[in-house]
Amino acid sequence: AQKVTQDQPQVLGQEKEAVTLDCKYDTSDSRYSLLWYKQPSSGGMILLIRQDSYNQQNATEGRYSLNFQKASKSITLVISASQLEDSAVYFCALSEPTVRRV
Ligand SMILES: *[C@@H]1O[C@H](CO)[C@@H](O)[C@H](O)[C@H]1NC(C)=O
Repeated sequence: AQKVTQDQPQVLGQEKEAVTLDCKYDTSDSRYSLLWYKQPSSGGMILLIRQDSYNQQNATEGRYSLNFQKASKSITLVISASQLEDSAVYFCALSEPTVRRV
């Protein structure tokens, strides 16, 4: 069974400050990926950043970085130097890893 919990309906932050969004998950898979999406009020879903479970380092992508705590099954998204354009709904998702066949 897989489960993702985001118990953080609203985050209020000052512009230019860092914003953190928490996500807890549960899975019995040993290999998985965690993805953070942004849904602006204009619609659509934007993939911001992903973390593969086997990666030994926290992923970073521009102003987005992750604090991945595998043992406690938690992944926090940190948005540094927040801007007005960051106003959106954020989703954390759990997926099976991508298989690449060459
Ligand atoms: C991510 O960073 C945090 C805080 O520095 C650290 O505790 C954690 O072990 C890191 N996770 C990985 C997968 O490197």
